Amino acid sequence: MIIWRTSISARGPGLGTRVRGAVQLAAVLAALSIPLSASAFDEDAARALGKRNDCFKCHSVDKTKKGPSYKKIAAKYKGKADADAKLTEHLKTSPKVKLEDGTEEEHKAIDTKDAKEIKNLIEWILAQ
Ligand code: HEC
Repeated sequence: MIIWRTSISARGPGLGTRVRGAVQLAAVLAALSIPLSASAFDEDAARALGKRNDCFKCHSVDKTKKGPSYKKIAAKYKGKADADAKLTEHLKTSPKVKLEDGTEEEHKAIDTKDAKEIKNLIEWILAQ
């Protein structure tokens, strides 16, 4: 009888702790999953890189300037599996582009070789 009681009281708090632990873990995961899924990129870093490279001279998030808005670019590439590769190449190789006023010039090449930094900027553009 003594052994029986001991085993119950030993299991009681142990189980309680496990259940509480599981509830807390679920709450933490739920809290984390919202910001994680909403931003797979670092917006501040993307904007800073774009600013440093004068990208915003010709592009804005939602207005056409000398170049298309990032929203327009995102729409053009929506659902395209090769979007990342295409835009990475676009930013590294200075292709000839036609500005809104009809003149042509070589597109600005990004000033970093850091693939992660470039990818972050592209992910941000594609999320507009
Ligand atoms: C002198 C103006 C100008 C600057 C500066 C400029 N762009 Fe562009 N960009 C354009 C134009 C014009 C196009 C449209 C090209 C086309 O559709 O033919 C374009 C197209 C793009 C595209 C879409 C390419 C595609 O395949 O549709 C991306 C992405 C882009 N620019 C990003 C950037 C980034 C990032 C920077 C900064 C490193 C930048 N641009 C700087 C004018 C500019």
